[in-house]
Amino acid sequence: MVDEFRVFGGRRLEGRTQVSASKNAVLPIMAASLLTRDSVRLKDLPKIQDVQNMARILAALGCGVHWEGRDLCLEPGKASKWELPDDLSKTLRSSIFLLGPLLGRFHRATAAYPGGCEIGQRPVDLHIKGLEALGAEILDERGMIYCAGEGMKGGTVILDFPSVGATENAMMAACLIDGDTVIHNAAREPEIGDLQGFLCAMGARVYGAGTGCVRVTGVTSLHGCDYAPMPDRIVAGTLMMAGAMTGGHVELVGARAQDLTSPIHKLIRAGCRVETAKDALVLDAPDKLAAQDIYTQPYPGFPTDLQAQWMALSCVSAGTAMIVENLFESRFAHAAELRRMGADVRVEQRTAIVRGTSLTGARVRARDLRGGAALTLAALAAKDYSEIENVALIDRGYERLEEQLSSLGADIRRIRS
Ligand code: UD1
Repeated sequence: MVDEFRVFGGRRLEGRTQVSASKNAVLPIMAASLLTRDSVRLKDLPKIQDVQNMARILAALGCGVHWEGRDLCLEPGKASKWELPDDLSKTLRSSIFLLGPLLGRFHRATAAYPGGCEIGQRPVDLHIKGLEALGAEILDERGMIYCAGEGMKGGTVILDFPSVGATENAMMAACLIDGDTVIHNAAREPEIGDLQGFLCAMGARVYGAGTGCVRVTGVTSLHGCDYAPMPDRIVAGTLMMAGAMTGGHVELVGARAQDLTSPIHKLIRAGCRVETAKDALVLDAPDKLAAQDIYTQPYPGFPTDLQAQWMALSCVSAGTAMIVENLFESRFAHAAELRRMGADVRVEQRTAIVRGTSLTGARVRARDLRGGAALTLAALAAKDYSEIENVALIDRGYERLEEQLSSLGADIRRIRS
């Protein structure tokens, strides 16, 4: 079965919708649960492909995994293997997060080089260097990574770049080893704070998340817990942009303004009103948006995971926007697809120049997760109807996006063929 979206554009989005838990918080938290032998309940998770794949990987390691409604119940005490299954780890880049927890739990880990979206080279050297700085011995051979961690102890990790995943891996690996660890040039993304929250809920001693210096003091064991991961700032940002591009009014229940400072700033400059109500983030859009340049950067800069959606928004804004992608070198695959819809986008290496115009529906193909979301937004704002192929990529990170957009008034359907 291959799913696609059929979208009739031109409908104004209006209404209230709940923002689900963050994929990028949930994946490392699921991995970190291996650090305890007690039960862990992760509350109200989105049943998206990446979460299901991580659950399959945990199950393949022997961990008990079952769903109770939207809660994921894990029994990591049953886990007995430290070799990540090849096929599954290649489908999910986040499988690399398991190296840290497996080293913490079993002092051993083996993985194939991970897969994920085709948005650039995405090496894992920073993950490896971080674990080596804590005493892990790592052999990187013929597409496999073999780690031995008997001699690990607390130490100093200095990251050449504030990689989100490498920071998280080092944090997890450090929880159960002797001594103090300091991670310098740590990523400051809000999901790092959520991972710290989860580790501390299990009894770990982790401090400093949200700053460039994270500290971990090793403990001998961790206990189980119930934990509700943070709301998804990228889903929230995507829905805000959908509202903005359709001249709409959207209320995003659970979304946190403090996680979206940079995108909100750009939306306001583009002419939107954005307010925080009691339990929701509320966006009111003008009739016409004003083009704004963006430069993607590590948090708190503009997130690369909202770059594609901003390009779609720029296509229907008045004026010209420059979009600079600083994190991933080939993250503009959506530009060619947007052009099929009439967009005026020119790409030169890491920079795209987008001249605002009007879009017309077309048959387009999602090339990666966020790019697929961007095409969906473009279709909402386009004249006539569009078909978006390869929705499976969008399903990796958005839970039934078509239903959420329909509930806001969009004319969008999933077609199975
Ligand atoms: C996480 C997010 C992803 C987001 C990205 C940047 C999760 C599950 N995924 O991915 O959605 O787009 O942050 O905000 O949280 N790099 C290296 N060597 C490494 C690791 C990274 O060179 O060992 C480079 C990458 O190629 C990239 C940059 O560092 O250019 C940022 O990557 P990183 O912050 O590690 O992203 P991820 O953790 O993979």
